[in-house]
Amino acid sequence: MAATTTAGEAPKIVWNQPQQRFETEDKKAYLQYALRDGGRAMDIVHTFVPPSKRGLGLASHLCVSAFQHAKTNSMSVVPTCSYVSDTFLPRNPTWNSLLYSEDLKSHM
Ligand code: COA
Repeated sequence: MAATTTAGEAPKIVWNQPQQRFETEDKKAYLQYALRDGGRAMDIVHTFVPPSKRGLGLASHLCVSAFQHAKTNSMSVVPTCSYVSDTFLPRNPTWNSLLYSEDLKSHM
């Protein structure tokens, strides 16, 4: 079934645990992560939105799903992807509280 998104309506984001992704139902837009620090940190390595759907906030929705998942599971976040570090976090600074701290490495 094709997932359609109208303006103002939040797209459905699905957690694809085996592939370590958060993605749209059609899988065309996704956020890829890797687990670090024994699973205690979510390293967001890449975010992708098809050219035809860019500029509508879809990457932002993917990030919110990933950060909410990290928060729910008491994980910290490593913002490797430049969209997360340069665009999402400056525009949504409350999520900075989840960022991975170098200090935690002493517990590895
Ligand atoms: N790094 C940081 N910010 C970026 C960016 C990048 N590579 N590419 C675009 N942005 C910013 C733009 O400045 C844009 O700002 P604007 O709203 O003032 O125009 C903003 O992202 C748009 O935000 P949003 O609508 O939430 O993002 P999107 O759904 O259009 O998706 C990307 C953004 C980056 C995921 C998409 O452009 C893409 O897939 N690009 C190719 C892959 C890539 O470069 N991924 C990021 C590095 S891993």
